[in-house]
Amino acid sequence: MKVQPDTLAWKEAYKLLIGSVVPRPIAFVSTMDRSGDVNLAPFSFFTGICADPMMVCFAPMRKAGEGDKKDTLLNIEETKEFVINIVSEKIAEQMNECATPYAKGTDEFLTSGLTKELSELISPPRVKESDVQLECTLDQIVEFGNHEGSGSLVIGKVVMVHVRDELYEDGRINTKKLSPVGRLAGQEYSRATADTFTLIRKTTANEKS
Ligand SMILES: Cc1cc2nc3c(=O)[nH]c(=O)nc-3n(C[C@H](O)[C@H](O)[C@H](O)COP(=O)(O)O)c2cc1C
Repeated sequence: MKVQPDTLAWKEAYKLLIGSVVPRPIAFVSTMDRSGDVNLAPFSFFTGICADPMMVCFAPMRKAGEGDKKDTLLNIEETKEFVINIVSEKIAEQMNECATPYAKGTDEFLTSGLTKELSELISPPRVKESDVQLECTLDQIVEFGNHEGSGSLVIGKVVMVHVRDELYEDGRINTKKLSPVGRLAGQEYSRATADTFTLIRKTTANEKS
């Protein structure tokens, strides 16, 4: 099978994309609007970019229908701050609850039963039950259209990292203890704990990392 994505309806292209880029980590993003209303939603088009400065990005797509912006994007445009809370298996159900398309202004901390914890350097609260939380300030938003199926790339600078002490060992985060979930296609998820394997990377005199 081969296909040029721009010949497809966006939902068909979307299915190919989420079936190809797997498993995806999940950014559980807490934001606040100008009036202080809090929002919490998961985004699996998410990755790290670089370490110095520590940069991350995630991609909210436009809503089906009129192509409206999701609440997370609207809030970040307004207040330029967000927290990426990492999703461990213990909060997977609550994360899924926060993907419900509630009306703007709905506080998903309340609908999911998760707990707000004050951030150190920014206004949106962290998810207390998340074991790793990244406080971010907005660097830039790259737009790829304003219709359904299109979306934006939100690039943020991490200004504070919180890691639960029990997971932090010798300068690293213990993956098994973190127990992060990955998103696969559709409603399926993966674990990072079962059946992992090791590949030792070769180094050369030219490259040290
Ligand atoms: C695991 C998971 C991953 C998701 N990833 C994305 C994503 O990368 N981009 C996106 O636009 N929506 C994604 N969604 C859907 C949003 O979470 C959903 O549209 C949510 O209602 C957006 O909330 P907001 O309008 O409050 O920002 C995902 C949903 C789930 C359950």
